[in-house]
Amino acid sequence: MTETFHPRIVGFLCNWCSYAGADGAGIARLQYPPNMTVIRVMCSGRVSPEMIIRSFREGADGVMVLGCHIGDCHYISGNHRTAKRVPMLQNLLGYTGIDPRRLRLDWVSSAEGPKLAQVVDEFVGTIRELGPAGYKTTTAHVLALPVLS
Ligand code: FES
Repeated sequence: MTETFHPRIVGFLCNWCSYAGADGAGIARLQYPPNMTVIRVMCSGRVSPEMIIRSFREGADGVMVLGCHIGDCHYISGNHRTAKRVPMLQNLLGYTGIDPRRLRLDWVSSAEGPKLAQVVDEFVGTIRELGPAGYKTTTAHVLALPVLS
């Protein structure tokens, strides 16, 4: 892929762990690609398939869902829901023409600023290899996607 491709990444970060981890990464001045638009959610379990699909429809090249480690969710079982929902959606994306690798789920605690930086760096690299998604309300597949939500 060309050097001029700057992936647009949407990152849904849970307030209590991953968002705080991103804060920690910033405070520690850790370097990672600035491609991610952060959407702070109270829990990763709050991220619906519709929100993910809408991100692709609005022009995201990749979507990340980052939450608390299993057992650490402030709402007890929110991330258990996430752990089931995101892989299921990844499977469905394969049928719609969206490469499942464009959706990533990971767990980042508030103390894991370096992991946050590493995960974003890896994901941006993956999306750079895949190239632009080009799904922005242009394909019949994506136009049909709201039925998933
Ligand atoms: Fe962080 Fe639920 S509060 S995943």
